[in-house]
Amino acid sequence: MDAREALFHRRSIRKYKSDPISREDLVDILEAGICAPSAINLQHWYFVAVTSPEEREKMMGIMGKVFGKFQPVLQERFAKNPEVIEETKQFLTGFGNAPVCVLAFLLKDDYPDRDGAIQSVSAAIENILLAATAKGIGSCWLTAPQRMGFGPLLRETFAPDKGEFVAAITLGYSADESKMPPRRDGRYVIV
Ligand SMILES: Cc1cc2nc3c(=O)[nH]c(=O)nc-3n(C[C@H](O)[C@H](O)[C@H](O)COP(=O)(O)O)c2cc1C
Repeated sequence: MDAREALFHRRSIRKYKSDPISREDLVDILEAGICAPSAINLQHWYFVAVTSPEEREKMMGIMGKVFGKFQPVLQERFAKNPEVIEETKQFLTGFGNAPVCVLAFLLKDDYPDRDGAIQSVSAAIENILLAATAKGIGSCWLTAPQRMGFGPLLRETFAPDKGEFVAAITLGYSADESKMPPRRDGRYVIV
């Protein structure tokens, strides 16, 4: 799959088959992440790929708490679509059965240009999603844990000597038929 195909085919996947991802593929996907551009080439990223049953259990314990805090927000937003709340619960509390969850952190705490650092890590995350897509591996970028205030706990648990937690990325073979949510018009101009 070429780059254009990968970026037009990528979808957020929230249900996965239990088939594992090979170590070779996982390393290749992480290497694609660290090939991203970064503000003044500081390469502000640090990734923890959670795969073992023990580490996954720790992660799921935290995600259960994330869902508990997120539930009232979802109930208000999706009052008329309870199925969305149930789907989100399944995804957040079990990562939709994804065999791998990559946690993205800033490498250090004291970047003077925090916005630049976050944008650099975001570029690396997108590279990860596209590299996974090119291998036929599904993914989903999640900021719910950070938004619900669990960044510090994730950092303490998985990367205590690194910087701020930015996002999680699930990886696995898709068991989902998800379609692209329609893109809105008027979001670019050529001048
Ligand atoms: C910064 C960011 C944060 C996101 N956080 C979540 C999340 O916490 N939970 C989730 O299910 N999806 C999350 N998503 C995925 C979006 O919901 C998804 O990209 C959007 O609905 C468009 O669908 P698509 O990725 O299939 O094109 C996030 C995406 C981005 C870029």
